[in-house]
Amino acid sequence: MASWSPTPLQLLGLLSFLLLHHHVLTTVAAASGNRRISLIRKPTPEVPAFWEAPEFRNGDECGSHDSNKVHVAMTLDANYLRGTMAAILSILQHTSCPENVMFHFLYARYIPELFATIKSTFPYLNFKSYQFDSNRVRGKISKSIRQALDQPLNYARIYLADIVPANVGRVIYLDSDVIVVDDIGRLWGVDLGDKVVAAPEYCHANFTKYFTPAFWSDPALARTFEGRKPCYFNTGVMVMDVDRWRDGGFTKKVEKWMGVQKQKRIYNLGSLPPFLLLFAGDIKGVDHRWNQHGLGGDNLEGRCRKLHPGPVSLLHWSGKGKPWLRLDSKKPCNVDHLWAPYDLYRSSLSTFEE
Ligand SMILES: *[C@@H]1O[C@H](CO)[C@@H](O)[C@H](O)[C@H]1NC(C)=O
Repeated sequence: MASWSPTPLQLLGLLSFLLLHHHVLTTVAAASGNRRISLIRKPTPEVPAFWEAPEFRNGDECGSHDSNKVHVAMTLDANYLRGTMAAILSILQHTSCPENVMFHFLYARYIPELFATIKSTFPYLNFKSYQFDSNRVRGKISKSIRQALDQPLNYARIYLADIVPANVGRVIYLDSDVIVVDDIGRLWGVDLGDKVVAAPEYCHANFTKYFTPAFWSDPALARTFEGRKPCYFNTGVMVMDVDRWRDGGFTKKVEKWMGVQKQKRIYNLGSLPPFLLLFAGDIKGVDHRWNQHGLGGDNLEGRCRKLHPGPVSLLHWSGKGKPWLRLDSKKPCNVDHLWAPYDLYRSSLSTFEE
């Protein structure tokens, strides 16, 4: 048998090989150890796993003052996390000043893994998180036509002005089922004039259908829109002047309408109609490109929808269907393929099979 007498250089190589692999092996052992523990604790993990997103850096033109910040508020819910992650990625990827975007996350139930997952997916993300007390709204919600709309967190946008820090004067509220394919700084910069809310307006939509005959047949209620030309707008994408919201006491005003709803059933949808009651015909209209809504399909039937004609800055899968569910079920709508490139979801199956 030939004996091997290593040179010092080879020894060094062997040593570093062993050290390196020792590190790798212990990491793997630790990771699989964790996995085993979590498997024992939770056979079906509540929080899915995601790939780490790249780091996005500011362009030279971006300032670093507080006044250069773009405040984006979203809710955080384990059931919609895949949508939220895709939305965040899309925002960072298309803005020239990603480091200036500050996210404000509202959650109803504290799940430590939820925040660990955000940190590991977006290690460089600027964000604050706030617990939304579901009890604030629970007794005020009346049943809508779709159960998903009745989640207390769906109403958190009403309380946004009370929840974000007082030095935040403007917020962009976004639903979790959106993809932004333009610089969010352009939406942020909209001139609100003296309005509280800016959003795309749809004046050709039949406004009557958002309220029940009980509403329109009650003269006192029907007078609500006197002096305005009310137009539909979608509350999943709104620029909100939270200073004016606080000054105007709009949280209380929304709650008042929710009280009327409880007694008289004046609408069938969830958190949207109270916004229409207060603001329809009195908002700052924004280009329709900022909310291509309805891509989830109809509220009841869940049929595929096409993109509306015209340029697109934001895609919104409002409605019954969600792109991640349809893609998983291998029955996607055409528009879902526009969502897929932002999907950071890492199924445990692909981890093991790759
Ligand atoms: C609008 O909807 C209402 C209620 O569904 C209906 O009665 C009315 O005819 C519609 N108006 C138009 C112009 O389509």
